[in-house]
Amino acid sequence: MISLHDVSPLARWSVLAVWILAAALVLWFGLRWRRGRRTWGLPVIAGMLVLFSLVGLALATRVATEAQRKQQAMARPLPPQSQAVWSIVVQRCQACHSDHATVMPWAAFGLSLDSMDDVEGNAGVIYRQVVELQAMPMGNTTKMSAEERATIARWYATRAH
Ligand code: HEC
Repeated sequence: MISLHDVSPLARWSVLAVWILAAALVLWFGLRWRRGRRTWGLPVIAGMLVLFSLVGLALATRVATEAQRKQQAMARPLPPQSQAVWSIVVQRCQACHSDHATVMPWAAFGLSLDSMDDVEGNAGVIYRQVVELQAMPMGNTTKMSAEERATIARWYATRAH
């Protein structure tokens, strides 16, 4: 989906500027045409500019709607057990596993746990690292308690697989 409404103002104005530039090139082509000059390069460049801007806009829209989806997922109230798991993840994991990680330059292992959907989608590996191997949190730098590991274990055991 392509949308001018969902993207950032900067993206929107860049796209409009490119379209104005393309229109100017076509206009210029028209003016030269009347003087008998057939400068086909101008409309070709204009077409390419519009094409690139549409591809860029499609990508920007994807990013924007994905961010929106995450926000909506976070606003949804969670069942109590998920809520317990979620607050553990926020306190013990997000320092490293987040798009906004504070301890890592980017999400460690490319694993972002920024919504409960992310957590559910990685339930198996989370259980393995936190309960079975106890390798995460790494070096237990975030001081996860045995109680919290037990909460993760219960959540994993009772959820639908
Ligand atoms: C101090 C930073 C840090 C914290 C806190 C942390 N992790 Fe990690 N995690 C890493 C790093 C770095 C890696 C990649 C290196 C590795 O696999 O040893 C990783 C890898 C992982 C992996 C993939 C491992 C694999 O090999 O498949 C999972 C799953 C994971 N972490 C889950 C968690 C969970 C769940 C928490 C919270 C309970 C957590 N991590 C807390 C740094 C951290």
